[in-house]
Amino acid sequence: MAENSLSPDDFILPIFVGIGEGRRDAIASMPGVDRISVDLLDDAVGEAKEAGIPAVVIFPEVDPATKTPDAREAYNPDNLVCQSIRSIAKAHPDMGIICDAALDPFNSDGHDGLVVDGYVVNDESVELLCKQSVVQAEAGCHIIAPSDMMDGRVGAIRKALDDTGFQDVGIMSYAAKYASAFYGPFRDAIGSKAALKGDKKTYQMDPANIDEALRQVAQDIDEGADMVMVKPGMPYLDVVSRVKTEFGLPTIVYQVSGEYAMLKGAVQNGWLDNDKVVLESLMAFKRAGADAILTYMAIEACQLLKKG
Ligand code: PBG
Repeated sequence: MAENSLSPDDFILPIFVGIGEGRRDAIASMPGVDRISVDLLDDAVGEAKEAGIPAVVIFPEVDPATKTPDAREAYNPDNLVCQSIRSIAKAHPDMGIICDAALDPFNSDGHDGLVVDGYVVNDESVELLCKQSVVQAEAGCHIIAPSDMMDGRVGAIRKALDDTGFQDVGIMSYAAKYASAFYGPFRDAIGSKAALKGDKKTYQMDPANIDEALRQVAQDIDEGADMVMVKPGMPYLDVVSRVKTEFGLPTIVYQVSGEYAMLKGAVQNGWLDNDKVVLESLMAFKRAGADAILTYMAIEACQLLKKG
């Protein structure tokens, strides 16, 4: 009688890539999630493949010395993201590779866009996001995921990809991305928390709004998004449901770092049953209408599903 089900191909695994060699560093605020150096990445992706997961997303921890106010490392064809893409594409040619378009890991201001005189400037940021998207596509990335929330970036990135011969590279836009406090552990993981000046409220959405989310999604679809994302997940299931029913496009949901930390923290204290909350939290996304789920629990969930 079950109306919904979970399977490994519902999941997309976010992976944190770190500097150095031979490193697998635990992230304190995300128990069970490691930051992995590029040389160990193939094994980690192999585990995901083994579990049946069709795609991974790469997030880099950038050396603070490499972060600059112009975020130029974002479009260095040899940056950590591009190195990771090349390595995965070679070792696991059938694994889907997704990368963010956003400047925050590379920006000494910690913002997703370029900061000029204390403001995040939209149009100049979009130009850099296009350059970043093209170097990632050249390295072998299959799907660009603009997570920056600048206006007009989906259309501009689509055009930049088309003009450089990457019309087959898809766009998964973070269309309804809220200015959420649930991203805290992620910012620990990539080291952008210390750098971040102010907050992201001038470009990420107000948690009070849902009509605006629908307008943002409509705009991104109009500009050429192939899939749209709602983020965070669990506190925004109403948004997932509205987006899926109103647009019918592949709708992706991101179970973000803070949701992961919240569940795992309670599990560590013995307050919640791990296996049950992992699967229930993911099933809720399917029920709300999500077609795929970015989750740090992806491998674990696959193992639990296999166990029955
Ligand atoms: C960066 C980005 C963020 C996340 C994904 N891409 C953080 C932010 O916007 O500050 C958060 C993911 C998570 O919390 O798991 N643009």
